[in-house]
Amino acid sequence: MDFLNLMVFLLSVAGCCFGQNALPPGPVEGVIGKNVTFTTVVSPGDYLTVSWTFNGGSGLVAVVTHAPGGRNYGPGYEGKVLLNSTNGVLKLGPLTAKDSGDYTLNMINNMGKSTTGETTLKVLEPVSAVTIKSSLTEAVEINSTVVLTCTSKGSFLKYAWLNGSAPVTPDGTHVTLSADSRNLTVSAVLRTDLVGPIYCAVSNSLESEKSAPFNLTVHFGPENIAMTINPTGEFVRKGSNLTLTCSAKSSPAAQFKWIHNGVERKETDPTLVLANVDKSQAGNITCMAFNPKTMRYLSAQVVKFTVIEAISGTKITGPNPTLVAGNSTASLKCSATAGTMVTQAWMKDGKPLLSSNRVNVSGDSSQVTISPVQKEDSGEYKCQMTNAVSKEEATHKMVVYYGPEEVKVTGENGVEITESVNLKCVAKSLPAATFVWKFNGTLTQVTSPDYVMEGAVYKNTGIYTCEATNAITGLTMSAAHLLSVKEEGALDEGLSDGAIAGIIIAVLVIVAAIIAGVVYMRRKQTIESPY
Ligand SMILES: *[C@@H]1O[C@H](CO)[C@@H](O)[C@H](O)[C@H]1NC(C)=O
Ligand SMILES: *[C@@H]1O[C@H](CO)[C@@H](O)[C@H](O)[C@H]1NC(C)=O
Ligand SMILES: *[C@@H]1O[C@H](CO)[C@@H](O)[C@H](O)[C@H]1NC(C)=O
Ligand SMILES: *[C@@H]1O[C@H](CO)[C@@H](O)[C@H](O)[C@H]1NC(C)=O
Ligand SMILES: *[C@@H]1O[C@H](CO)[C@@H](O)[C@H](O)[C@H]1NC(C)=O
Repeated sequence: MDFLNLMVFLLSVAGCCFGQNALPPGPVEGVIGKNVTFTTVVSPGDYLTVSWTFNGGSGLVAVVTHAPGGRNYGPGYEGKVLLNSTNGVLKLGPLTAKDSGDYTLNMINNMGKSTTGETTLKVLEPVSAVTIKSSLTEAVEINSTVVLTCTSKGSFLKYAWLNGSAPVTPDGTHVTLSADSRNLTVSAVLRTDLVGPIYCAVSNSLESEKSAPFNLTVHFGPENIAMTINPTGEFVRKGSNLTLTCSAKSSPAAQFKWIHNGVERKETDPTLVLANVDKSQAGNITCMAFNPKTMRYLSAQVVKFTVIEAISGTKITGPNPTLVAGNSTASLKCSATAGTMVTQAWMKDGKPLLSSNRVNVSGDSSQVTISPVQKEDSGEYKCQMTNAVSKEEATHKMVVYYGPEEVKVTGENGVEITESVNLKCVAKSLPAATFVWKFNGTLTQVTSPDYVMEGAVYKNTGIYTCEATNAITGLTMSAAHLLSVKEEGALDEGLSDGAIAGIIIAVLVIVAAIIAGVVYMRRKQTIESPY
């Protein structure tokens, strides 16, 4: 150390007596391994000497001295410092922990005026290895309290927590922070609490570092359990397949159980198929979801179902094949070989069949009795069987035999000799009537409904009686007709009104007498029953 430098050194040591305005207020902070710059507040200019000294606690050490003779570096400072001699600014680095301490600057200008400053350098350890540690590796929603601890290397550290990009805000109950903010406690953790993801941000006054994103699996559920049943509806057709599906929101996925009529089934799939169902399986079914992590159970609503056998083999039995109007009783019975919970209804010719004074529909609609039958009871009878899963019907065509009735003879009342005569007999009857004709009470050979004579003669005058017979009802009804055969031209002028009236009255009297006779004979005669 030459004289000048020694002088400067001594001046700087004694710098107390000069202006203390060379450095801004400290302390100055730096980080291990990095550079630090000591700024100054002196006006730039030509300085005779500029010197920095260091006191790390074990005595004064020269750092660098700039003098007209050149620069001198203290031990170990060559290559580690950069000095700007026009303003005294010193760059120092890379820093080590040992660089912490007090630094003094002393500058003397051309006029011999000295300026001094002193400041302190804090060398900080850098922030590194920021990690989050969790008290749990997996949590159960509400049950668990999670404590996250942030660790980091470095000195003078401050801790902060981020949820995504927003700072975590403690609320004092659910989310709390330790006094130094190193521990984040989440009580009764929710699935949404820690999915931010969470970061720990550690900083000192110079730098900050963020941890890797942290996520914690928070198990929850089961919840929102739902069971569906296909086909839907309470009634299930016997022999069909019933598919039940159970679902629940859960983490991890729920395990399922099926409770069928109070008994746990062995199946554990979320879908249960009851194949070929029969009545013994009817009843109540529900599913249960279980979460092995949360240890919680949840039951679905119980579904009740009824197994119904489809209707088959519907038929109508009963009515006697030969029904006679006014005399027979018809009894129709409807039955099926299979089917449960069946309701029945009767229709006749497409309209509902109702009870009346002759028609009796039994209370359960299984049977219809018509007594006595009449011709209007003929028609199509339909029995409809219905249950919740099927519908079937049977029909029966019923025929009621009747007649003959309304027997009538039409044709000429008077003809002239040689003219032709055509008498026609009609009767309402089922089956169709057979006919015989009588002339003046004597049976003729004619058995057709028409009585035809080509070229009338006088002796054809007389009473023609048509007798209609129904082979099944065994009934016979007659009608009479008076024919007069006259000489040629007799009918030209026609008969006087009086004569016509006389003839009509005579005919009516005769017809009435004949009908009376027939009815009398009928009462006496027994007609054989056709069955
Ligand atoms: C520190 O200063 C030295 C010398 O000026 C330079 O070579 C180095 O790159 C600087 N280092 C940092 C971290 O700035
Ligand atoms: C189904 O549940 C109802 C109501 O709880 C009960 O009355 C009925 O006996 C149950 N049926 C079966 C077959 O267990
Ligand atoms: C969580 O709490 C519920 C209700 O207190 C309890 O039933 C369940 O068993 C608990 N789960 C665990 C995994 O401790
Ligand atoms: C009517 O029924 C009675 C008794 O069943 C029978 O004796 C009678 O012959 C029947 N009459 C007719 C017209 O079928
Ligand atoms: C038939 O009866 C009518 C009137 O009763 C009578 O005028 C006529 O001579 C009779 N004819 C025969 C062929 O008996």
